[in-house]
Amino acid sequence: MPAPLAFPARPSAPAAEGTLYAALADSLQHLVALGTLRPGHRVPSVRRMALQRDVSISTVLQAYTLLESRGFLEARPQSGYYVRPRLPSDTLEPRMARPMAAPRYVGVNDLTAEVIAHSTDPAYVPFGAACPHHSLFPNKKLARLLGAVGRDDPALFGRYAMNWSYEPLAREIARRYLQAGAPLAHDELVVTLGCTEAINLSLRAVTKPGDTVAVETPTYFGILETIQSLGLRVLEIPTSPRTGLCLDATRDAFANHDVKALFVIPSFQNPLGTCMPDEKKEKLYQLLAEFDLPAIEDDIYGDLHFDERRPKPLKAWDTDGRVLLCSSFGKTLAPSLRVGWCAPGRYLERVRRLKFTNTLGTPVVLQKTISDFLRNGGYDHHLRSIRRAYQHQLHLFSRAILQHFPEGTRLSRPAGGFVLWCELPPGTDTLRLYRDALKLRINTAPGALFSVKDRYKNCLRMNCGLPWDDIIEQAIRTLGTLAKKQLPAAAA
Ligand SMILES: Cc1ncc(COP(=O)(O)O)c(C=O)c1O
Repeated sequence: MPAPLAFPARPSAPAAEGTLYAALADSLQHLVALGTLRPGHRVPSVRRMALQRDVSISTVLQAYTLLESRGFLEARPQSGYYVRPRLPSDTLEPRMARPMAAPRYVGVNDLTAEVIAHSTDPAYVPFGAACPHHSLFPNKKLARLLGAVGRDDPALFGRYAMNWSYEPLAREIARRYLQAGAPLAHDELVVTLGCTEAINLSLRAVTKPGDTVAVETPTYFGILETIQSLGLRVLEIPTSPRTGLCLDATRDAFANHDVKALFVIPSFQNPLGTCMPDEKKEKLYQLLAEFDLPAIEDDIYGDLHFDERRPKPLKAWDTDGRVLLCSSFGKTLAPSLRVGWCAPGRYLERVRRLKFTNTLGTPVVLQKTISDFLRNGGYDHHLRSIRRAYQHQLHLFSRAILQHFPEGTRLSRPAGGFVLWCELPPGTDTLRLYRDALKLRINTAPGALFSVKDRYKNCLRMNCGLPWDDIIEQAIRTLGTLAKKQLPAAAA
């Protein structure tokens, strides 16, 4: 039997306050907290609950859906809604790293290229790169839209794409940021080839080779590669798995090192899954203003929140244009269409010039396809469904990892996104684990990739954007067995 499981420790948002369904959801959540409704128990059917509480079926459905998104209920096909089993209440979170004494150049990391190469090979179980399974995206609808775009205006294929953005798309993106609390004008945006190009152009706009960029640690390995390719140095700032970038350490770094920019993923950080609370984002912005520094904000996971409300981007506090906001549709809609964007604030002209020299423009055919989907394709509905899928998958992965990995394994508790950060007991070598697992056709992302210092030797990032099945479960069990073999019998 799996260990008893617990609800996420994080508080849930006071969503949809004042509505009947929110009141019903709150009262059921209270019953769960009291233990009246216990983990694994089936809750009354929608019809029965509607009769019991004298409300409509749609009110109950909305309440159950809300509790599902808060992580309290799970829907089981053809069976009904159940109280979601909990992670053990003593599940430990990963530890925070120590500050770095001096900035460093990033070394060439062949391992990153290797992990990425195996990620696109269908022969491997894809726990390595943070790539959701293609079945989670509305591919057929997008294919139809793409075809229609070409049929309606074939001349699009014959025209050079020299543009900062296709205006209807930029307007849609801007409208969404307005809803998220960050008012942007559509002409402040540069549409890019993925978030990768947005970050690349932003870094080039605010630094020159030899400069130092502060980053969270651990951080997304792609940014370390980009920083290396631009001849920049890195200063790693300790980051809490619960609240993100450590502000005291950030202040020390800004005060004691010649930092030229900060790169930060404030909402659902990769690999930790952490979301910085609003107050902390505001303080971070004040710190940037105090030291007169720009920040490159990677907001690629911002729309993948499990709470009701989308977190505000750091850009929401940007009164003087020092935040270069970067993102894309790569994790939400269509990774291969490579449509991303940058809102570079006061660096707009510089980023536009760099975009021109980098790739001239972003194909209008692709921008129009995405724009048509956003306007008529049910994007919000799609987002709700992938958020639920990611949250559910993270839960199943966490449960299986705690069951099969060595005792003492610590796990992040992401409040959004789809990656998990696992800290295995000291003595585990995840690079060795990576090599052993690769022989069995399982690809993972060992902790060493996420830092330029020798950190995270016993850590592992898992891509959980994969529909759960026997292969996934078996692969997690195999990883656990391999990890246990590395430890003395008593520790495993
Ligand atoms: C934090 C982060 N930023 C950027 C990217 C790359 O985004 P894109 O595919 O839009 O270039 C990734 C991909 O894994 C990521 O995790």
